[in-house]
Amino acid sequence: MKLLRIDSSARRNSVSRQLTGKFVEMWKRENPSGEVIERDLATTSLPLITDEWTHAVHCDPLGLTPAQRETLAVSDTLIEELLAADTIVIGAPMYNFTVSAPLKAWIDQIVRVGRTILYSASGVEGVLKGKKVIVLTSRGGAFRPGTPTAKYDHQEPYLRHILGFIGLTDVTFIHAENQKPGELAEPARAAAIEQLQLAAAAINRPATHV
Ligand SMILES: Cc1cc2nc3c(=O)[nH]c(=O)nc-3n(C[C@H](O)[C@H](O)[C@H](O)COP(=O)(O)O)c2cc1C
Repeated sequence: MKLLRIDSSARRNSVSRQLTGKFVEMWKRENPSGEVIERDLATTSLPLITDEWTHAVHCDPLGLTPAQRETLAVSDTLIEELLAADTIVIGAPMYNFTVSAPLKAWIDQIVRVGRTILYSASGVEGVLKGKKVIVLTSRGGAFRPGTPTAKYDHQEPYLRHILGFIGLTDVTFIHAENQKPGELAEPARAAAIEQLQLAAAAINRPATHV
């Protein structure tokens, strides 16, 4: 079993990193012989999409020039990590009501025609099927469904959509909300840790059908 851990906070001592760390701890307990692939997007050099990149992804892979191969090298590495993983845990801080820039840059590199999405006569198909994804978010405020601020959450809906687009449809979100300084922060963080521990323990269990 392989777990891919992705962190995307700018802060070293961050809440979302604490959550992904706890998830890894729990997952290792459940999967002692499993392998963890660590991808810290804050320390990864993530290029923006360029004109050269958009051309290279549409070329025959066997006919790529050395320069085109170099252009796609980061994308290739990040996609290989995803393909290798059975489970993916993503630490996602909320920045300006959505994902952080490094997480968006990672998404731009891994959503790729011919690698993670296929176009055919019947439409678009995501390639990364059968993997479990746990997204652990951290937010200063609170955006629960049914509350007046729910409409400002452009993080979970966006991530659900883009992950589904590449075939990742088994996605669980656990939010540590109210992380701005104050008395609500610690209990919200503790509740998120409890939930993610249950989620990690449930991964290897077959689904029960009622
Ligand atoms: C640049 C920046 C933008 C932020 N924007 C929001 C926001 O739009 N909504 C919110 O609830 N919190 C926002 N916050 C607060 C963070 O979501 C909160 O501090 C969270 O714990 C960050 O995750 P981390 O601890 O993993 O870094 C922002 C923080 C920063 C640094």
